[in-house]
Amino acid sequence: MALVRTFTDRNQEDLGPALPLGLRELYDGDLRFRESPAERPFVIANFVSTLDGVVSYEIKGHAGGSTVSDSDTGDGFIMGLLRASADAVIVGSGTVNDASPEALWTPEYTYPDAKLLFREYRVDVLHKPEYPILVVVSGSGRLELERAIFRTPGMRTAVITTSAGRDALVAAGATTLPSVQIHALDAKCGTLAPMAMLRLLYAELGVRRLLHEGGPTLFGQFLGARVVDELFLTLSPQIAGRKGDAIRPGLVQGTEFMPDCAPRFQLLSVKQRAEHLYLRYQRAEATR
Ligand SMILES: NC(=O)c1ccc[n+]([C@@H]2O[C@H](COP(=O)([O-])OP(=O)(O)OC[C@H]3O[C@@H](n4cnc5c(N)ncnc54)[C@H](OP(=O)(O)O)[C@@H]3O)[C@@H](O)[C@H]2O)c1
Repeated sequence: MALVRTFTDRNQEDLGPALPLGLRELYDGDLRFRESPAERPFVIANFVSTLDGVVSYEIKGHAGGSTVSDSDTGDGFIMGLLRASADAVIVGSGTVNDASPEALWTPEYTYPDAKLLFREYRVDVLHKPEYPILVVVSGSGRLELERAIFRTPGMRTAVITTSAGRDALVAAGATTLPSVQIHALDAKCGTLAPMAMLRLLYAELGVRRLLHEGGPTLFGQFLGARVVDELFLTLSPQIAGRKGDAIRPGLVQGTEFMPDCAPRFQLLSVKQRAEHLYLRYQRAEATR
């Protein structure tokens, strides 16, 4: 039975493996992606936002996306489906630090009921390992190494950082953790270039399809570099509001665009479950 209902889906091209029947039923349709462009992975982003564009309440214990989505089942399922479709999931350290210490960026973590279906899709259809690589971006290298993402057997976690960040991680014992890899890149004022991260993931980790799960700081930089190919956005039926001095980030934090060069998107699909909307966009090739 369908978990979400499809209003429109313009992504009907015959491009590569499609979902197994059980997932196609739950998603009320198929899910296909374009091949990666030359020398970098195809980048899909996934966020949930309030009606007024807030992605985090930034309140201790309620900063994550599940507060924004009201732990919506459809959002959890689509997040799991996108993770199942990707070679790797990338997140900034702010997103990791605000998540529960037990959090894992696996398909079944957000929708356990489809664990077997996700596995069948990844392993039998896409011929990928059971779990996507988790890629954590941190300039400082200040990460809590007790977290489950660094200590769960079968998980592979890659940290992309600066040389100073690598030194901090080595000093904290990260190299003794069997599933953790550290990759240092040249940085400008502690900031790594999105294209350098993408080239590294493509060439050294074989990533062809990358799921970007934020947060707003990291996402803004990828948008600014014009390397976000698709955006899956869940619109949650609540309004967070903002006071002048309160920081409740929108989709993008720390990057801004002028109207004539703001990234623009074309709507690919619209799905719905109860009061939630699930929107899928692809990057418009031409900007106004
Ligand atoms: N609603 C949603 O869908 C959604 C999705 C994701 C996140 N969120 C929320 O957003 C909030 C976090 O926002 P955020 O903007 O702080 O998170 P973020 O982008 O995940 O993390 C920012 C941190 O990532 C590192 N970083 C980002 N870009 C970098 C670059 N180019 N080079 C080197 N390091 C880089 C830096 O870490 P260091 O300081 O370690 O150098 C930076 O402080 C959380 O509350 C989270 O729950 C919501």
